[in-house]
Amino acid sequence: MAIELTWYGHGTWLVDAGGHKILLDPFLNENPSSPVKADDVATDTILISHGHFDHVADAASIANRTDAQVVAIYEIATWLSTNHAVQNAIGMNIGGQVSLPFGTAKMVPALHSSQLPDGSYGGDPAGFVLTIGEQKIYFACDTGLFSDMQLIGEMGIDVAVLPIGDLFTMGPEDSVTATRWIKPTTVLPAHYNTWPPIEQDAAAWASSIESATDASAVVLQPGESFSM
Ligand code: NI
Ligand code: MN
Repeated sequence: MAIELTWYGHGTWLVDAGGHKILLDPFLNENPSSPVKADDVATDTILISHGHFDHVADAASIANRTDAQVVAIYEIATWLSTNHAVQNAIGMNIGGQVSLPFGTAKMVPALHSSQLPDGSYGGDPAGFVLTIGEQKIYFACDTGLFSDMQLIGEMGIDVAVLPIGDLFTMGPEDSVTATRWIKPTTVLPAHYNTWPPIEQDAAAWASSIESATDASAVVLQPGESFSM
């Protein structure tokens, strides 16, 4: 199956898997690096990694406009349903896997925090491993480095998407260690260059990946896509 990953800047991705459109952490209208606005995105599945504004900002409006299936940790799914009238939210938790029209999504740990924008408790932060046909994509989402990434690597990851911005997540150096542990074929950076405090030199990062790991580094500009 043809799988295409499009980066909308920051932590927002659209995965097109044979026509299924999976939107991760929609932060578009107030995302200075996004080339698209929330009203212009087509999606049938929305994945939410954690409760911070820069990950849930446009989730409810897009879910309510598109009737997309939302998948999030239980507390965030409940918040979207109760406070934002989202109709189709599946609540799950770390370690669980859910079957979706494109394949499966497994919720994996992330080392971060997760308060929702109105101060509500957002449960624990998470990442996702998507299985689409024979392919596995690991979205680490907002996280520091943690050694259980080696266990995620044992799942056989084809593409890993890692934060490199530092300050709020791991930085470039830790993402190289993460890549050695996850052993993906390809690694893409995210969660950087949105604002000055998380500016990074992606070309230098890519050189480090290429010299210190067996993975290929693919650096996208916001709006660009990578085909698996
Ligand atoms: Ni965050
Ligand atoms: Mn974030």
